Amino acid sequence: MSDLSGKRALVTGSTQGIGFAVAKQLAERGAEVFVHCSRDLAKAERTAREIGAAHAVVADLSDLAETANLYQKTGAVDILVLNASVQYKERWLDITDAHFEAQVNVNLRSTWKLMQLYYPAMEANGWGRIVTVGSVNQHRQHPELSMYAATKCAVMSLVKNIAKTAAPHGVTVNNISPGAIRTPRNEAVWNDPAKRAAVEAQIPAGRFGTAEEVANAVLFLCGEDAGYITGDDLTVDGGMRL
Ligand SMILES: NC(=O)c1ccc[n+]([C@@H]2O[C@H](COP(=O)([O-])OP(=O)(O)OC[C@H]3O[C@@H](n4cnc5c(N)ncnc54)[C@H](OP(=O)(O)O)[C@@H]3O)[C@@H](O)[C@H]2O)c1
Repeated sequence: MSDLSGKRALVTGSTQGIGFAVAKQLAERGAEVFVHCSRDLAKAERTAREIGAAHAVVADLSDLAETANLYQKTGAVDILVLNASVQYKERWLDITDAHFEAQVNVNLRSTWKLMQLYYPAMEANGWGRIVTVGSVNQHRQHPELSMYAATKCAVMSLVKNIAKTAAPHGVTVNNISPGAIRTPRNEAVWNDPAKRAAVEAQIPAGRFGTAEEVANAVLFLCGEDAGYITGDDLTVDGGMRL
């Protein structure tokens, strides 16, 4: 695995779950890491101290002005991991305009805006890594995640289009699609034996994945070894999409 000393990295939504594991592994490899969450700076600072990350920042990615301001707070980075998302589980007939907007704004619009802001310096430096965190729901249908899945599929489309134009400049753009991963988001399901068993029954590997297993794949894409991989979607799902 690559030594990432000298690389600056921002991981959105890194105070818990998958983002936390990614930020921790980046810091362990020597990167100068920005931990990020929506509003609670003390939480971001605690996380940064815990994992040896250099910086902590907040920006609510449902707000376009705050999203744009995040770049002012961090300056350019070499590695951008766009991990933060929101998810509302409901039948498509019940999705409200507010929930539509929240999922589109945090999952899709902020991803597009942050790529637009952070990419030019990567191109100028001739090196960069952008990794978006999608979902197994890009690949399989779920009766209560249609809008969430739509935002993740839209991000994948951005990834492929941007990857093609970024490739000549040494910048790779890829997506990771996690399956069912044990994080705070899934704690209620994990703690309910019947619900947990119902999810595990859909996973060929027979278990939830860990945030560290997803982080391992993200770290691979961030390193030198993955320099010839771009525009791709790497699923980390124990076979759940199959
Ligand atoms: N867990 C799974 O099984 C699973 C499966 C497939 C895909 N994924 C994807 O993997 C990624 C991480 O999932 P996770 O389970 O680790 O998530 P999580 O435990 O819910 O953590 C989400 C992180 O995103 C941040 N965030 C949420 N809304 C935000 C906003 N408006 N502005 C800024 N930050 C915001 C949160 O910070 P605050 O606390 O400040 O809100 C938190 O740090 C997501 O993109 C998710 O869609 C997860």
